[in-house]
Amino acid sequence: MTRGRFISFEGIDGAGKSTQHAWLVDYLRAQGKTVVASREPGGTPLGEKLRALLLAEPMHLETEALLMFAARREHVAQVIEPALARGDWVVCDRFVDASFAYQAGGRGLAWEKLQALADWTLAGLQPDLTLIFDAPVAVAQERLRAATANPDRFEQEQAAFFERVRNAYLRIADENPARVRLIDARQTPAVINKVLENIVATF
Ligand code: TMP
Repeated sequence: MTRGRFISFEGIDGAGKSTQHAWLVDYLRAQGKTVVASREPGGTPLGEKLRALLLAEPMHLETEALLMFAARREHVAQVIEPALARGDWVVCDRFVDASFAYQAGGRGLAWEKLQALADWTLAGLQPDLTLIFDAPVAVAQERLRAATANPDRFEQEQAAFFERVRNAYLRIADENPARVRLIDARQTPAVINKVLENIVATF
């Protein structure tokens, strides 16, 4: 049995990645692939409960990081690894890069602490392909304002926070050229659909 393929979607809030995530899942299914669509934090019943806490409750930055990794550990064990072992495609709205971008970049937690958690809990698991949706913070914030009536704990952060998150994502893209593709999220949805089509055809 051939192991499945694992794709993650990343980017600052408001970059439009979730719309494209839904589009790619439909596209791959139309190509005849068996696709497990999921998201982080979340993806399991326990993970969704942790998500509700993470998006609403004020907490220490290390508690936040630990809960993100707790939700992820459960997700990997219950959903991602079994799906990849079956040969399915896993298309996930965010994965471990989000912890480096938000908890290290955004909140200022030491990169090495997150790396230690990743080494401990993921045993080297990484997506085969990561799509980072990049847009200027002002553009993403305007989209977020237009689309979100009740912003969550992350969406309420200031522009400077999202600048740091964006810079961390750009660093991740720079340091992982074989895995990560940076997508200009200012393009129209139809143009981005084509870009994704071309990327998945060749990866
Ligand atoms: P979402 O809105 O893309 O579903 O993600 C929920 C929020 O959680 C988003 O603002 C980013 C944040 N997040 C982290 O801070 N660290 C993580 O590891 C993950 C997966 C998400």
